[in-house]
Amino acid sequence: MTKKMIPVYKSKGFKPSILDMAKDPLKFVVEQSQKLGNFFTIPFYGIKNVFVTTNVEVIRQVMQSNQKNYRKSATYKQLKLALGNGLVTSEGEFWRRQRRMAQPAFYKTQLEELYKKMVGVAENFCAELSDKTNGETINISHEMMAVTADIVLKTLFSTEKDNDKVGMSENMKFGQEYIMNRARKPYMIPLSYINGQKRKFEARMAEFDQEMFEIIDERRQVKDKPIDLLTMLLQATDSESGDGMTNRQLRDELVTIHAAGHETSSNALSWTLYLLAKHPAILAKLRTEVNTVLKNTSHPSFTDLRSLTYTKQVIEEGMRLYPPAYAVGRENIEKDEVLGHTIPANSIFLLSIYGLHRDSTYYPDPEKFDPDRFAPEQVKARPSLAYMPFGAGPRMCIGNHFAMMEMQLVLVMLVQRFDFELIDNKPVVPQPLVTLSPKGGIKMRLRKLVATP
Ligand code: HEM
Repeated sequence: MTKKMIPVYKSKGFKPSILDMAKDPLKFVVEQSQKLGNFFTIPFYGIKNVFVTTNVEVIRQVMQSNQKNYRKSATYKQLKLALGNGLVTSEGEFWRRQRRMAQPAFYKTQLEELYKKMVGVAENFCAELSDKTNGETINISHEMMAVTADIVLKTLFSTEKDNDKVGMSENMKFGQEYIMNRARKPYMIPLSYINGQKRKFEARMAEFDQEMFEIIDERRQVKDKPIDLLTMLLQATDSESGDGMTNRQLRDELVTIHAAGHETSSNALSWTLYLLAKHPAILAKLRTEVNTVLKNTSHPSFTDLRSLTYTKQVIEEGMRLYPPAYAVGRENIEKDEVLGHTIPANSIFLLSIYGLHRDSTYYPDPEKFDPDRFAPEQVKARPSLAYMPFGAGPRMCIGNHFAMMEMQLVLVMLVQRFDFELIDNKPVVPQPLVTLSPKGGIKMRLRKLVATP
């Protein structure tokens, strides 16, 4: 019997096939997975093999069982320009050591401390939002970006608001835009040398690094150190060598956590609010749980979070439909056998989380927003890798519990206080940038609830 070939995607006409995916990667993967199956290849100018997949077995092999043979793909190299050699971009023994050192900062006891800081930020945020309930239109994605930025700054540095000293948001925004442009339009890179963009980027990064080093040095001197991620990372020592992190390593991890842990949660919250505004019955069910668990308290306690099970399901379903990290990329170091096919070394694997989460094998009627899909018996009936908003295997998101508690807190406090109305009935389009963002934001009107705590 002849072995089946891996299906190949070919564009119509003469244009390179890969451009069809680049144009609209979300729709492309969903459509082509239905036509070609959940493991197919796209010619990439004859230089590289590109494999696109939503196949759970392939994902398991790449992310778990044979993960040592897979490094992060080229896009992560661009991220290195701003993030340095932090957890997201580092590899091999260096990454393993950094992960070992950073992991305890995300243990439950530490998260409980960080949660207290989150509550303070969320309370201020809700108070500010109350002033915007007189019928004005707000962009909920801007609001979510603001609260998650404040949460990450407060939990990293115990800083109240973004200020001149920690000008991270502005500097990082500039850096991120520069890097995204390079990743999306590599042919423009030579221009950045001529038009001054590269020099500007380097100057901003140098200025920013200087500020970061000052913050780290100041903290090293302080006797009563505040409990936050900076202190936790600064005091971390490697269990094998006994060494701590240098200022450069600390800088890279702090910037990485800031970048990885801010826009992701913000987008997940924005999409969840969007879905709730479109599904009043689900919002009502969520509010019933919130009122039952919280009674008249103004915010959930750390232990309340465990009882807020439907709230968690709503967020999980929000991230199923709109996973902030919509794809992960890997390259195999040595050749591999995948589903019985020999894959040459240095091939690119694009694991589409967005496509996987819309696979009707696991999610019947996949476009439907239905948080009951995350009821325990339904979760048990699916392979665990059918849902992976936080990735999988050893490189899985270190901040997954941090993010879940942050999102539960903010969502609960919002539904306790406000009703949401979409300004426009037109569907909001997901835009696959660094994370999956709502194109043009999400415009809403908020109304204060009568029984606001
Ligand atoms: C909804 C929110 C979040 C989502 C959807 C998300 C998603 C992800 C995903 C998919 C990965 C794996 C990337 C890959 O394998 O290539 C990842 C890694 C990572 N995330 Fe998150 N993340 C979120 C929030 C956070 C938060 C709050 C933090 C920190 C406070 C964080 C820090 C990190 C770090 C440091 C890594 C690299 C881990 C490693 O390779 O050791 N993330 N995240």
